[in-house]
Amino acid sequence: MEELNQNYQPKTLPSIPTFSADMEGKSHEEEGQIVTPWQVTGDKSGKIDYDKLIDKFGCQRVDQSLVDRVARVTGRPAHVFLRRGIFFSHRDFDEVLDLYERGEKFYLYTGRGPSSEALHLGHLVPFMFNKYLQDAFKVPLLIQLTDDEKCMWKNLSVEESKRLARENAKDIIACGFDVSKTFIFSDFDYVGGSFYKNMVKIGKCVTYNKVLGIFGFNGEDHIGKVSFPPVQAAPSFPSSFPHLFSAKDNFRSLIACAIDQDPYFRMTRDVAPRIGCRKPALLESSFFPALQGETGKMSASDPNSAIYVTDSAKDIKNKVNRYAFSGGQDSIENHRKFGANLEVDIPIKYLGFFLDDDAELEHIRTEYGAGRMLTGEVKQRLIEVLTEIVENHRSARAAVTDEMVDAFMAVRPLPNMFS
Ligand code: TRP
Repeated sequence: MEELNQNYQPKTLPSIPTFSADMEGKSHEEEGQIVTPWQVTGDKSGKIDYDKLIDKFGCQRVDQSLVDRVARVTGRPAHVFLRRGIFFSHRDFDEVLDLYERGEKFYLYTGRGPSSEALHLGHLVPFMFNKYLQDAFKVPLLIQLTDDEKCMWKNLSVEESKRLARENAKDIIACGFDVSKTFIFSDFDYVGGSFYKNMVKIGKCVTYNKVLGIFGFNGEDHIGKVSFPPVQAAPSFPSSFPHLFSAKDNFRSLIACAIDQDPYFRMTRDVAPRIGCRKPALLESSFFPALQGETGKMSASDPNSAIYVTDSAKDIKNKVNRYAFSGGQDSIENHRKFGANLEVDIPIKYLGFFLDDDAELEHIRTEYGAGRMLTGEVKQRLIEVLTEIVENHRSARAAVTDEMVDAFMAVRPLPNMFS
């Protein structure tokens, strides 16, 4: 029960059974923010309080010593997303490092719900990070495309969800994954056999009341949704992939994802010891902010809230200049006098994700914060950085053929996955 004691209860849902002692006495109104796999809403100010989230979910903070340790263990600089606190939360990542240092391997698991054709930069964050983890630790990566999930939640047809899964697979492959170490699978195609056996074992350990409490389902939700969580839990266990791992390879999984996926893995970790499995470890990121400001995730219904991997250089320039929320002052005079408010400035936040050079970022922060650099100049630098990422992605994606997608998605052994 350890994991489930910290579960989170969305405030919009009436009278859900609660399992969380620490929630007692607090009204949901006071709780403010809502973070579930399907809804992300900030507190009164519109912001997500990530410290609160760590407390409520019962995760651990990624601190400087952990970041330094990653650099030491892998013999290469820690990724920007670790250095800058973007992957800020973890569960047992320190244990995975302990084992790794003693020579025990692990595998990486992540996923994507294919709900739309075009990905935005926020969607690439977990894949860029997994690419780094895969290279740095020399371990295999398994990527689940939950076409079944999106079919149920987004009311897409089975065929359309499957089509989107393949389209999204091309964008994922374009992030540079190595086909000899990466298995991408669609639930509609792969679920069965050992994977399904694990789903059933997991399902038997989770009561209806529990799943309502963790995910905030209610009596109006169809049973397809209620029975979905074991599908996302099963890849956490190596026995779901008999073509990759033998029964004696009882590897741990490490899941790097955005923190809204935590409910699935809280459930998985609670169940694991009861079915003789090891708990997955996690590294969890904050959300990539919308251009309009940091009030949660980007909205798929507003194309101007995000930079898409399909945007042209002109689109990027336009969107950044017109929509990126600026912490600069309203007149040049005031700006020179008071400097920019870096806390709310979107160009600074985006540069924090994508400008590799620590010294340059620090220089921009200092100059802009002191009012010596203007918003326009910072935006100009951001436009350059984003244009390069998007153009690189575009040409990499154009080179991905249907045969390559088939190769990544083939159920096959990966003989060199740990080298
Ligand atoms: N539910 C996730 C989404 O909607 C997709 C997903 C499946 C996933 N398995 C995962 C995400 C593991 C992170 C880690 O995008």
